[in-house]
Amino acid sequence: MRGYFGIGVEGISKAANLGAVMRTAHAFGASFVYTLGAHHKALQINKTDTSRAQSHLPFYQWETPADMRLPLACPLVGVELCEQAVDLPSFRHPLACAYILGPEQGSLSGEVQDMCSHIVKIPTKFCINVSLAAALTLYDRTLSLGGYPPRPLMPGGPDLAARENWKAIKKRAN
Ligand SMILES: C[S@@+](CC[C@H](N)C(=O)[O-])C[C@H]1O[C@@H](n2cnc3c(N)ncnc32)[C@H](O)[C@@H]1O
Repeated sequence: MRGYFGIGVEGISKAANLGAVMRTAHAFGASFVYTLGAHHKALQINKTDTSRAQSHLPFYQWETPADMRLPLACPLVGVELCEQAVDLPSFRHPLACAYILGPEQGSLSGEVQDMCSHIVKIPTKFCINVSLAAALTLYDRTLSLGGYPPRPLMPGGPDLAARENWKAIKKRAN
């Protein structure tokens, strides 16, 4: 996959959720993870992140939005269920970006929302767990930027010949 991404959470308070976000980020190939104003209890993630993401990718802990040090040309993409957000299935993910999600109780702060170049929402009737929202966002990124062949018209996946053909096309394009 081209480009890179980081993912973080503002005001997270539960270690189980942070551990799940980190494990998910690691599994989807994040380049870094971060917290913003995390509750100290949330940082005790050893039991919940069994993939030991901290040993494999950079983990930043920032206290306030002003402390954040994102790479140059790395826009912030807020993930929040709010009126002005763009539906995730219609969103074009930037090649390089950092996603940010909100706390278990509450939403992304106004200050962080103002820093975001884009805000996206997952089309659900109400808020889902923050680590699930992280997983769905990264899955959507993988679907749209992962270079998978288009789905066939009929139910089922592309057959072996079509998959091999797609691989050859991708190889030539790279
Ligand atoms: C459990 S939700 C916050 C609780 C929610 N504000 C409430 O009180 O109902 C935690 C975070 O998950 C993310 N989230 C959950 N559902 C979402 C959705 N449908 N679309 C986008 N983000 C979502 C947002 O980042 C949100 O701040």
